Amino acid sequence: ISAPEAVYFIFGATGDLARRKLFPALYSLYREGKLGERFAIVGLARRPRTNEQFRDDVHESIREFCRYKPGEKDDWNGFVDRFTYMSLDTGNVEAFKQLKAYTEQLEASNDIPGNRLFYLALAPELFGSVSRNLRDGGMLESEGWHRLVIEKPFGYDYPSAENLNEEIRQVFKENEVFRIDHYLGKEMVQNIEVIRFANAFFEPLWNKNHIANIQITLAETVGVEDRGAYYNKSGALRDMVQNHMLQMLTMIAMEPPARLDPESIRDEKVKVIRSVRRYMTAEDVRTQIVRGQYASGSLKGKELKGYREEDHVDPASVTETFFAARLFVENFRWAGVPFYVRTGKRLPVKSTEIVVEFKNVPNHVLFARKQELQPNLLVIRVNPMEGIYFRINAKKPGNDMKIQPVAMEFCQSCQVGINTPEAYERLIFDAARGEGTYFTRWDELAAAWKIIDPIAAAWKEHAIEPALYPAGSWGPEEADRLLEEDGFHWWPVN
Ligand code: BG6
Repeated sequence: ISAPEAVYFIFGATGDLARRKLFPALYSLYREGKLGERFAIVGLARRPRTNEQFRDDVHESIREFCRYKPGEKDDWNGFVDRFTYMSLDTGNVEAFKQLKAYTEQLEASNDIPGNRLFYLALAPELFGSVSRNLRDGGMLESEGWHRLVIEKPFGYDYPSAENLNEEIRQVFKENEVFRIDHYLGKEMVQNIEVIRFANAFFEPLWNKNHIANIQITLAETVGVEDRGAYYNKSGALRDMVQNHMLQMLTMIAMEPPARLDPESIRDEKVKVIRSVRRYMTAEDVRTQIVRGQYASGSLKGKELKGYREEDHVDPASVTETFFAARLFVENFRWAGVPFYVRTGKRLPVKSTEIVVEFKNVPNHVLFARKQELQPNLLVIRVNPMEGIYFRINAKKPGNDMKIQPVAMEFCQSCQVGINTPEAYERLIFDAARGEGTYFTRWDELAAAWKIIDPIAAAWKEHAIEPALYPAGSWGPEEADRLLEEDGFHWWPVN
């Protein structure tokens, strides 16, 4: 299948996201025949650029970031000739009228029936005004569909997210809005549903009776890089937890949907987010959550600066670069099961893994007298390695009845290469087909902010500062204590 004929408008076409992710994703889709025969791509940004210059930018980006390399002459031209560029001031409705005239011409000459996808790779402050200008400039008057794709951060807290949503919804209907959480585009996150619902041996065990705890780790080795100005306001809580971490938790915890359609799935997801216990008091926040910030340290022999020494970061900043929490999903399935989540920058590895730790078998006394029995684990490896493995107990060869944990592993990335296809590829393709399952619906987002806001408020009101951890370590010790208090520990992440 290929996407319907459409024009793709990339706002922010000279920016980093377009260069690193969007152009490469479009090219991969093209190479796989998923964009169909008739499509066009219009790059939009303020800076003046000729079509030729823009096409050079696209070439450069694909050479650097795409898993397909720009092909032979004909193939490449067949792709790059679809790109045109228009310099546009997003605040000026007259510019959108010109864009309309240009688009109509483009559609007529390419026989494209008026389907328009607007990808806003822009600061969220502009989402509202760009939506209005699209409407007032006549860009939504064509026959065919109109879809808006937007990136995070979606608001800074619940009230600002609600305002932003209202601005957008004055122009677009909910089913025309595709809010990207690129973690939902990752192969193994999408695979969670299949692993859970298509296997006889998981679903019966997937509850409080058999699962001791769940651990979700999203570790990064990078620091704040050149994003200090954004990150210092956002911190790990808003940058990672509000979206990626809660979305992964939701996929793990949701009930089986009535049908595999976007609304049924998202109906189940929102129920999970609404069931997450909210930490409303300073006491809750102090005991259930760990806030950390990297100090100077070293990783693989390289000396690293502390967060407060990074560019565009206030030297007295209390922004967290590490977050860990013990969360609870308060419903029948999960009552009492801790979900430990942690994410941080400048940790020792780049890795996202979900570990499901099962309760030990009841008759483990049989073995325990001689040796400690290790729990069974199911590990879902999300990123950058993709795969799953189980850890089960088996007999160690030999005469004495020794037990050893062994791993049974399915390494997906070993078979198909790392991250194939890329999250953005899947998501752009889905948006072009109007498939909303792996985009965040407004009610999910709203419920997520309601978990986040009280935490941020408690940190602020009670001056709860981050505990420092050396760059290159696994975060503050408090994160280990969170599990030790319950008799658990973090399983090592590969
Ligand atoms: C982004 C965050 O959403 O996700 C970044 O803003 C983070 O801070 C990135 O580095 C991580 O994504 P991935 O796919 O590299 O794990």
